[in-house]
Amino acid sequence: MTSGGPRFIRDLLHEAAQRLQAVHAADDGDDARLQVELLYGLATGLDRARVIAAGSDVASPAAAEAFATLMERRIQHEPLAYILGRREFFGMTFEVGPGCLVPRPETETLVEAALDAVRGHPNARRLVRVADIGTGSGAIALSVAQHAPNAQVFAVDVSSEALQWAGRNMRRFGLQDRVVLLTGDLAEPLSEPVDVLLANLPYVPTEEFEALPAQIREREPRIAVEGGPEGVELIARLAQQLDAHLSPVAAAIFEVGAGQISWVEELVTRALTEAGRTGLDVRHHRDLRGIRRTLEVRVGYPTG
Ligand SMILES: C[S@@+](CC[C@H](N)C(=O)[O-])C[C@H]1O[C@@H](n2cnc3c(N)ncnc32)[C@H](O)[C@@H]1O
Repeated sequence: MTSGGPRFIRDLLHEAAQRLQAVHAADDGDDARLQVELLYGLATGLDRARVIAAGSDVASPAAAEAFATLMERRIQHEPLAYILGRREFFGMTFEVGPGCLVPRPETETLVEAALDAVRGHPNARRLVRVADIGTGSGAIALSVAQHAPNAQVFAVDVSSEALQWAGRNMRRFGLQDRVVLLTGDLAEPLSEPVDVLLANLPYVPTEEFEALPAQIREREPRIAVEGGPEGVELIARLAQQLDAHLSPVAAAIFEVGAGQISWVEELVTRALTEAGRTGLDVRHHRDLRGIRRTLEVRVGYPTG
């Protein structure tokens, strides 16, 4: 890409976007043009607006070479967010990299439901205890802590690598006084009942995992994506732990895969009913694509 003498930045980016599109035909995610603009910005220290404005300038050999190196990483399916080292989520910039899942836009649906549940909880004027099971980068836990000053958040993950990213982000946002990071399996590390329990656990069935784009299958942690042969194994296990970890008035909110919501609703409501909980209030929340993405089950909440 650096051969052939001086190049206008506009032409360099156009060619790079076409190449990316061809190679990443099966990868979902960001638009190719946006990606190359961001990568050129990273290579040169310019923000995206200035990259676009500089289109008719000639790329310096050093910039062209640095850009070519970043492009090569992207061509090899390294996720854009890992290369940039960051991803926007719920209006906040999270640091991300190998070892944690890149937060997805559809997960913002869960955060919105979580904030609603925190604000509507009878303890809202005091302290609402929240758990985020499978916290990864801390996207959910930290967004809730940031936007609900009355929330005390326990962020759990079985992966210590993922928790390192969560810790980095927790310090980045200065939320150490209200967020506690815990290592372990599902809800087991929680030492007290919580009022709002959140979980975006892996839910992709093994067979579907094998067909995912390379940038997910080969680069993001398998433990963050693959949920077992049926996809819902971890969610089913967490459902069995719910009663022991939820306070008398509580909400449990799960992100699920497309088409899984009824199945997960059945798992969660059966587990709670068998444990003697009554008056369950079940809600489905759709993501921006209209998919029923988030299941919420409230127990004992005031109505109205
Ligand atoms: C789909 S990712 C979600 C990450 C983050 N919460 C988000 O929404 O972007 C699932 C997370 O669950 C964690 N996980 C997988 N199995 C777990 C288990 N048994 N107990 C706790 N966390 C687990 C993974 O390490 C990963 O960070």
